[in-house]
Amino acid sequence: MNGKDDLQELEARFLAEIEKAGDERALEDIRVAALGKKGEISTRMKGLGKLPPEERKSMGQALNALKSRIAEAIAARREVLKQQALAARLEKERVDVTLPVRPEHKGSIHPVSHVWEEVVEIFADLGFSVAEGPHIETDWYNFEALNIPPEHPARQEHDTFYFHRKDDGTRMLLRTHTSPVQIRTMESTPPPIRIIAPGRTFRCDSDQTHTPMFHQVEALVIDEETHMGHLKWTLEEFCKAFFETDSVKMRFRASHFPFTEPSMEVDINCSWEGGQVKVGEGDDWLEILGSGMVHPNVIRAGGLDPERYQGYAFGIGLDRLAMLKYGIPDLRAFFEADLRWLRHYGFSFLQVPTLAGGLSA
Ligand code: PHE
Repeated sequence: MNGKDDLQELEARFLAEIEKAGDERALEDIRVAALGKKGEISTRMKGLGKLPPEERKSMGQALNALKSRIAEAIAARREVLKQQALAARLEKERVDVTLPVRPEHKGSIHPVSHVWEEVVEIFADLGFSVAEGPHIETDWYNFEALNIPPEHPARQEHDTFYFHRKDDGTRMLLRTHTSPVQIRTMESTPPPIRIIAPGRTFRCDSDQTHTPMFHQVEALVIDEETHMGHLKWTLEEFCKAFFETDSVKMRFRASHFPFTEPSMEVDINCSWEGGQVKVGEGDDWLEILGSGMVHPNVIRAGGLDPERYQGYAFGIGLDRLAMLKYGIPDLRAFFEADLRWLRHYGFSFLQVPTLAGGLSA
């Protein structure tokens, strides 16, 4: 038998099979038949020992060269098959982007987002800009700088979510109100200051009018002459604009906050009949905000001179505003992500609140 002729024939046969292989499986079978442990080329390699020494060398070289040519041919074919498979898949999975969207996927703007925009719009018109602060706060910004020292009873009322203590004994917390933004703003902005800070706040509390995460809008005005009359006027103007009526009844109640002196809370007249909350009727009241003249200690903590500067602050419950204005009786439903609820109370993304165009229209 002429060994070299035999190899040529073998090579021609394998190359033809490789060329014909229609998928990776068929290619793998050919690889095993040629180069696998019991494959034809491997078997011939094993038989080299039986050849006379002068033939052994040239036959060995020829087999090695054949082996690498077959391996290369298989690799090249594999690449071609891969490209073909990809092209076929791309063809099959083509998306027709001109198809109309499915109607059931229409989203809506959450009432809290809508009310947030309404409030920003009203205060922007009054000359306020929007400030922000972090949700995760230090004890200093959330309490101490706001005139609430470590043992102050007001801390208990806040049902604070704390993080684990750090090595130095301090612990971060989820801000219980937006008031820390008062301090951060005084630190970063020279007076006159006129800001609102809408955002998320957190307290460990849950019932019809409380949820562990809720929203507030802080307001801070600091300059040299601002007084209680300005505060009251601002709140009245805000409520008239927000509820889109002149007849909303507000109740100013003397109250106490460590960071304001004097302090007052504001309630809005409403009724809760038949599982519905309605503003401007009945004889119930819903508390919507706390307010007062900024305490001198707070102004000092913010790095300003309380002998020179004074002003007012208030914090409004944004979700409560939404409940009142849009007649939503249970606060907990706001955050349950129930699609039926969202469809019912949500707003179209085209309903951007503007004072000129109407807030809720
Ligand atoms: N931070 C107070 C609260 O969460 C509200 C408030 C803000 C009161 C500003 C007075 C001034 O209850």
